[in-house]
Amino acid sequence: MAGNGSSREQWGSRLGFILAAAGSAVGLGNIWKFPFITGMNGGAAFVLFYLISILLIGLPVMLIEISIGRKTQLNPVGAFKSISPRGPYFLIGVMGVLTAFVILSYYSVIAGWTLSYIVKAVSGNFMDFTNTAVAIDMVDSFAGSRLDIPLTEIPWTAIDSLSALGLHKDTLLATQVIPSAVLPDVAVEQLKVTWMSIDSVASMGVVRDSLAIWSVVPDTLLPMVAGMEFEAYSSSPNWPLVAHFAFITLCVLVVIKGVKSGIERWNRILMPALFVIILLLVIRGITLTGASAGLKFLFLPDFSKLTGDVMLTALGHAFFTLSLGMGAMMTYGSYLSRKENLMKSALWIVVMDTVVALLAGTAIFSAVFAMGFEPSGGPGLVFNVLPGIFAVMPGGLYVGILFFALLSIAAITSGVSLLEVVTSYFVDQKKWKRSRATLLWGLVIFLIGIPSALSYGLLKEFTLFGMNFFDFFDYMSFKYMLPLGGLFMVLFTIFRWGVGGFLAELRQGGGKLRISNELLIVLLTISAEFVLITFVAGIMGWGK
Ligand code: PHE
Repeated sequence: MAGNGSSREQWGSRLGFILAAAGSAVGLGNIWKFPFITGMNGGAAFVLFYLISILLIGLPVMLIEISIGRKTQLNPVGAFKSISPRGPYFLIGVMGVLTAFVILSYYSVIAGWTLSYIVKAVSGNFMDFTNTAVAIDMVDSFAGSRLDIPLTEIPWTAIDSLSALGLHKDTLLATQVIPSAVLPDVAVEQLKVTWMSIDSVASMGVVRDSLAIWSVVPDTLLPMVAGMEFEAYSSSPNWPLVAHFAFITLCVLVVIKGVKSGIERWNRILMPALFVIILLLVIRGITLTGASAGLKFLFLPDFSKLTGDVMLTALGHAFFTLSLGMGAMMTYGSYLSRKENLMKSALWIVVMDTVVALLAGTAIFSAVFAMGFEPSGGPGLVFNVLPGIFAVMPGGLYVGILFFALLSIAAITSGVSLLEVVTSYFVDQKKWKRSRATLLWGLVIFLIGIPSALSYGLLKEFTLFGMNFFDFFDYMSFKYMLPLGGLFMVLFTIFRWGVGGFLAELRQGGGKLRISNELLIVLLTISAEFVLITFVAGIMGWGK
């Protein structure tokens, strides 16, 4: 009953599979989502629970998915049908394919934002992307509400004297060389911030008088400017839609080429690039003065912050970030040959994904804390806080370009795996041609994503259970559909497939794996209970 014969493609090599699977796992989840949900959920205690979830349930489900995929050489629906032709088990696969539609539809919206932000970043000075009109409006409205604040002229004196000295943009240099006699009353610290702010605002063409206002609120300037720019962008009815379409098109172009010359080929190019970029960004982040506060936030847990909801969020994120619970890894596993060692491959994928998340967290939080910003920025964190930071950070222009390139690469290699789940279902089960399946369903996913793309603009007021479309899709998929899908897969393995069958598949292709059936049942039961308990704790609102 295995597969539909020799016409089905396979990966060109083990490395090709590992890179593609790691490409699926490493995505916006690691670089966009992990930092902001860590910020919103209190930091290191959340990170710790996420790591525990990866170990207790992530790794087992990864092994189960890849094993089922390789054993059956089929898409998720076909795979469950193949192992268990009778009964409702194939519905786990159906839920997986539906989840792929849901996730890709909103994932593509954020991925589209990242594409737009590369364009903004590349088109010149990073602050050029900031809409001058928006900035001036903001300055005006701010002036209106804060006129009672006495404006200090001192920073202006400072700037004049700096210009007279022929100094230019290097902030630190500037603050060091100003003769203190010029600035009797201004602490060097304050001047430093002021100078950085003014430096970046000046490039937007904001008039000098308005700038004087900023001298009294310098540290709030940059996030506001970047934030307003982000708001202007994300609420517009045009660009987010165009970018969403562009992203789906990129995924379609890769998937349509097939497993080896499409997915594998692009992952082989993009994943090494991703690793190089993230290392550069980490080095930049931790060499900023004050970076250690960010590391403490990420790695020193405060258990009073751990509630049921935080735990469920961490669990859901473990599934999301490893692409588990909906059959993406099963689909990729179905293109593996029987010769591969599954245990080793799974470990590589899990370790790479986790390391990238922690590296991304390190790069982002060291920069956020070093520059004195708040860690709980929400979904906009990387779009409305980071550009403000790039604007003032030494080398920020290049860091900004690299950062959004990194995000886009990560998003494409994940988006491709989501689309492949849908394509493989129609190719295997419905005998469609790959090109037809990819094009048609790509278009449908674009259409389903439109409400999400407009969720921050035209459809802002439209809510489901108090959430806009985008948040609702995200919430449903990562908090409920994925963990439930994963739980069903574990239960399926224990009660239907049998751990004997699972172990036999794991042992196929190398690896000694000295583990008894009994012990494996115990381990899988612990995994299932862990999911159940976390669910109950989350839903009951434990610890609130
Ligand atoms: N793992 C991807 C990420 O972290 C998202 C994803 C989820 C991809 C489910 C495929 C399946 O961004």
